[in-house]
Amino acid sequence: MPQPVSTVRIVGYGMTALGKLGRSASELMREALQKSLRSAGLQMKDLDGLVAVPSLSHPHFMEAHYLATQVGLLPHRGPGSVRVRTIDTGGAGPVSGLLEAARMVKDERCQAVAVVAGDAVSSLATPEFLARADQGCRDPENSLPSPCIPHGYDQVAQWQLRQGLLSREQLAMVSVLMSRQAAKHPLALTRKAHSLEDVLRSRKIAPATNLLECARRADGGAAIIVASSNFMDEYMGHDLVSSEDGVSSARLGPVAATGGLVVLGGGEASGPLYPPEEIDESMFSCEAAAASAFSEAQLLPEDLQWFGLYDCYPICFLRALEACGVTPKGTAGAWVEEMFWKTESGYDAGDFPINTHGGLLAFGAPWEVPAMYNIIEACEQLRGTATGRQVPSVRRALVYGNGGIFSHSAVAILAQPV
Ligand code: CAA
Repeated sequence: MPQPVSTVRIVGYGMTALGKLGRSASELMREALQKSLRSAGLQMKDLDGLVAVPSLSHPHFMEAHYLATQVGLLPHRGPGSVRVRTIDTGGAGPVSGLLEAARMVKDERCQAVAVVAGDAVSSLATPEFLARADQGCRDPENSLPSPCIPHGYDQVAQWQLRQGLLSREQLAMVSVLMSRQAAKHPLALTRKAHSLEDVLRSRKIAPATNLLECARRADGGAAIIVASSNFMDEYMGHDLVSSEDGVSSARLGPVAATGGLVVLGGGEASGPLYPPEEIDESMFSCEAAAASAFSEAQLLPEDLQWFGLYDCYPICFLRALEACGVTPKGTAGAWVEEMFWKTESGYDAGDFPINTHGGLLAFGAPWEVPAMYNIIEACEQLRGTATGRQVPSVRRALVYGNGGIFSHSAVAILAQPV
């Protein structure tokens, strides 16, 4: 009998609280992993793959092996084998991890793979955070001033300002928009929408970047479970629980029970680790990553109803709008301004179906974790469970993760099961 065609699905997801939590990155990873397993209805022993993203606050040699050993996945004692991989593509890590997990399911015949990220950068004192963050992003040839990351993004923002493609206000409007979205999400750190003046008058961090235009540092962990639909149907279908009245039902968790979310396609591309002295289009990679994802999914931007775009700084979000086909090249500034006015005095979620959780600028940004929030929010939107911020009729969604200073892009397209 030929096997029915299997699809790769996200069958579980979970996250910890966000904030200044005083807990280690590993603790946060473990809690997120347990929550994601519960939402799939799986147990640790059901996993035969684990992908982890390293943390800045509590780094470990071979992070995924460290975590797998802590949670008892290694040493492996059952039948078959377990594959464990650490992926470091910076903030793109969770989406790179999702795509790696999908390959492990498709090509290496894994049945269920967890992708886990966690960090505690809010609990790190600022000088220590900056020492570690600057070290990774400082080009010995062309030293960026500290804080290096905001200054690196600022150089790109200034380059686009000089080209006349944007205004300073349009950059700030991105932060206002993200705070309006965050105010509708119960777990977001930013509880109240900023005014444009709040953003423009907040402390200057770099020439065209103020404090409220920086990714909002946080501690937090998040995880997803990626599995083959065959495994969920067959293996879990056999694992029946009998209730008192004799009726049997599979013990699938709430996400898996509705079929999970299908991974339709993905793409990745890389740029230089540091912004070159002369910035030009060759340093950016989101365009190529998005083009691969659309090609693999055989879709166009207009086929999608929701977008989770990386927004560590407004310029990253603005470039992503164009790279992912939300708006044509050269028009992102004007598009954001239009959204700013459209959402000024109350709006429906469908009016602005992007980062309905508030993104890095307003939901919270535990270093390499936040792209996982894009994935989780995409899942909530696709399942119709984004209470208070649900975009109507979301059937397909795009998620984008960005690492370093535009140094790596990973894009995935997710869909409801047919
Ligand atoms: N929205 C709302 N509030 C914010 C905020 C935001 N976007 N950003 C900071 N704040 C708040 C903080 O929560 C804090 O509030 P409390 O006083 O109530 O605690 C207050 O403003 C001051 O912020 P900090 O404590 O962070 O201020 P600081 O002077 O210690 O540090 C800073 C300032 C150096 C700019 C630091 O905030 C910073 O470095 N931020 C950027 C973090 C960053 O770059 N993350 C990585 C993004 S790049 C990426 O994601 C790619 C990758 O590969 C990792």
